[in-house]
Amino acid sequence: MSKVLVVTTYGGPEGQRLIDREAPSPGPGEIAIEVRAAGVNPADWKRRQGAFGTSAALPVAMGLEASGVVTSVGEGVEGFAAGDEVLGSPARGLGAFAEHTVLAAGRSLAKPAEISFAAAATLPVAGTTAWDLTHQVDAEAGRTLLVLGAGGGVGRMVLQIAAARGLSVIGVASASKRGAIEAAGAAFVVSGDGAADRVRDHVPQGVDVLVDLVGGSALRALAPLVADPSGIVSAADASTAVELGGAGRRRSAGALGAITGLVRRGLVDPHVVAAYPLRDAGAAIAAVEAGHSGGKIVILP
Ligand SMILES: NC(=O)c1ccc[n+]([C@@H]2O[C@H](COP(=O)([O-])OP(=O)(O)OC[C@H]3O[C@@H](n4cnc5c(N)ncnc54)[C@H](OP(=O)(O)O)[C@@H]3O)[C@@H](O)[C@H]2O)c1
Repeated sequence: MSKVLVVTTYGGPEGQRLIDREAPSPGPGEIAIEVRAAGVNPADWKRRQGAFGTSAALPVAMGLEASGVVTSVGEGVEGFAAGDEVLGSPARGLGAFAEHTVLAAGRSLAKPAEISFAAAATLPVAGTTAWDLTHQVDAEAGRTLLVLGAGGGVGRMVLQIAAARGLSVIGVASASKRGAIEAAGAAFVVSGDGAADRVRDHVPQGVDVLVDLVGGSALRALAPLVADPSGIVSAADASTAVELGGAGRRRSAGALGAITGLVRRGLVDPHVVAAYPLRDAGAAIAAVEAGHSGGKIVILP
């Protein structure tokens, strides 16, 4: 038997449970892995709360990004073999907070030896999001990019990708994140009331791109800083971004390979700030749910 964290009832964390199941077998186009690490994302608790709907039959396995070692491959899979180290997204909702799972081969990659299992497990969701946000808008070298929620899991990767592209970067976050943001080569602006005025102190002419990882009123307050609203892009609140003239995150096919390449070359560090064993997965999710993480949190089965 093999352990997996599931949602048994939609709502609060009391609906999460670690259960035993048969280690899942790969179907066509899938690869079975022994999980070595899984990244925790706000989507995990939002899904548990029913924010993405409550029609999926329960229990639903939790966890959307993983790294591990291939144990077997399904029909038609090329390029992966038992023993390979990989990273990717679970197939068929089989979850990543598990001892074993199955990945979609088309959304998986060989894990470069230079990248730890923990860091690799943060790339399929958080890493690709950071890549897409910084590439779906016109973000050429020399332009100015403002990041709201810059000190979190996606935000810290956005800062580094933007710096690697030669952009001038400003990160908005709470005071405890100043050191992390400045270390990424960005200017720091403290979040909260008056943040837009503090950004203007740095860039009186405004910014070219606003990458939003918070949404709501915090996004609305900063939006006037962007002269052309098509430069607003949000992973947190697509409907507000669209209302303001921007867009939600658009997924691109090459994002996983691209962000993995940047991490392998040492240009981006996903900043894994905490790791929890699978038996403490609830605490890992609670740490993300608290809303002020300073990087990526992972679960190590
Ligand atoms: N659409 C997609 O495909 C996709 C993919 C990944 C993530 N997302 C979404 O993107 C968002 C960020 O994800 P993440 O993984 O980076 O989350 P995270 O690691 O929890 O970071 C979120 C950051 O937001 C900041 N924050 C929270 N409330 C704030 C407020 N009122 N004003 C300013 N900053 C605030 C927090 O920093 P402080 O402590 O500094 O306040 C925290 O570091 C989430 O909403 C997530 O669901 C979407």
